[in-house]
Order: sequence, then C-alpha cells, then structure tokens
Amino acid sequence: MEYKLRKAEPRDVSDILRLVKELAKYEEMEHQVRLTEKDLLEDGFGDTPFYHCIIAEIQGESSSDDLKVVGFAMYYFTYDPWVGKQLYLEEFYVMDEYRGLGIGSRILRHLSDLAMKTRCSGMMFVVAENNEPSVQFYKQRGAEDLSQEEGWRLFRFDKDSLVKMATPAEE
Ligand code: ACO
Repeated sequence: MEYKLRKAEPRDVSDILRLVKELAKYEEMEHQVRLTEKDLLEDGFGDTPFYHCIIAEIQGESSSDDLKVVGFAMYYFTYDPWVGKQLYLEEFYVMDEYRGLGIGSRILRHLSDLAMKTRCSGMMFVVAENNEPSVQFYKQRGAEDLSQEEGWRLFRFDKDSLVKMATPAEE
C-alpha cells in the first residue's frame, strides 16, 4: 500500500484530533480528551508552536479518491540538563487496519533522522503499563524502560494544584 509522510499543516487539525481520540480510546481514557480543533490550531501553528506532527497518509482505491490520514506522531523538543536536547514523542498512532505495514517504523525512522539532524541525545516517551504490544514494539527497537531500570516516577500538578500555588488573582 502506498503511503507518504509529511509535516502536518493547519488543515490537518480535525484529523489530528480524530487520531488523538482514537489513541485515547485504545488506552481506555477517551473521556480525558478535552482539547478542541481550535486549541490544536492555536497551539501548533501560531508564532510559537508548542507541538509538531508528522502525518502518514494513503491514497484511496482510485486516484480520484482523497488522501486519507491514517497515522501520526506528535512531538516537541525538551532539554535535559545532563545531556542536552531531547526529542519528546508525545503521541504515536496508526489506525488499526493500517498497522503492521511498516508505517510506524517509517515514522520512527523519520523522527530518528530529525533527532540526528537537530543533535538530540535521545527520544523520550511514556507508555501505559498495560500497553504491552507497544512496550514490545519499542523494546525491540532498543528502548530502555527507565521506570524499571532507574526508578523514575511520573508526576503532575493538575490545574487546581497550580491555582493553589499561583499568585492569587486580585480581588
Ligand atoms: N497490528 C499491529 N502490529 C502488527 C500487525 C498488526 N495487524 N501485524 C504485524 N504487526 C507487527 C509488525 O510485524 C511489526 O513487528 P516488529 O516490531 O517485529 O517489526 C510491528 O507489529 C508493527 O510495525 P510497523 O508496521 O512498523 O508499525 P505500525 O504501523 O503498526 O505502528 C504503532 C506501530 C504506532 C505502535 C501501532 O501499532 C499503534 O498505533 N498501536 C496502537 C496505539 C499505540 O499503542 N501507540 C503507542 C502509544 S505510546 C506513545 O504514544 C508514546
């Protein structure tokens, strides 16, 4: 099957949100997706993009069919004070019926090329503990499980906690 990778454009936000929701559903956390197309547009395509996406799309059965977005990776750059620039893989998803065709590996190759070009020292990501197929997918490609090997724990301050710590709004 013919597919190609390209950088996401503003017109892709509805497909990006569709795939974000599919991945959340796969992870049984669909109810946690609150983001809108407007958020994605503002946050990814404004003066300071907060994320980037690579899109995988295929041509339909006949050449007159529209191209169909079937997978994506969302990433951004972070900084580790020990080793420097890191590429952070936030979301990675290929639609069920297009898995096993090499699209995911091709996306990872693309991101690895990008990481080399930008002189990143690694690619970080979080995988749900019960997502065993993906854990295997990453491990087969050499990923280290830092929770297991180094004992890091993942934390978050939610919005309520931030409000409590932040400077109170003037009355
Ligand atoms: N479905 C899935 N995998 C299959 C299938 C199938 N029907 N058939 C074969 N496979 C095998 C392939 O042979 C290949 O094996 P290998 O690892 O030994 O090479 C592997 O599974 C899939 O390789 P690709 O075809 O290159 O990758 P794919 O296009 O399937 O994409 C991905 C990989 C993105 C992990 C995809 O399986 C997926 O979307 N999974 C569900 C969502 C998910 O778990 N995403 C990652 C969450 S973690 C994060 O986002 C940071």
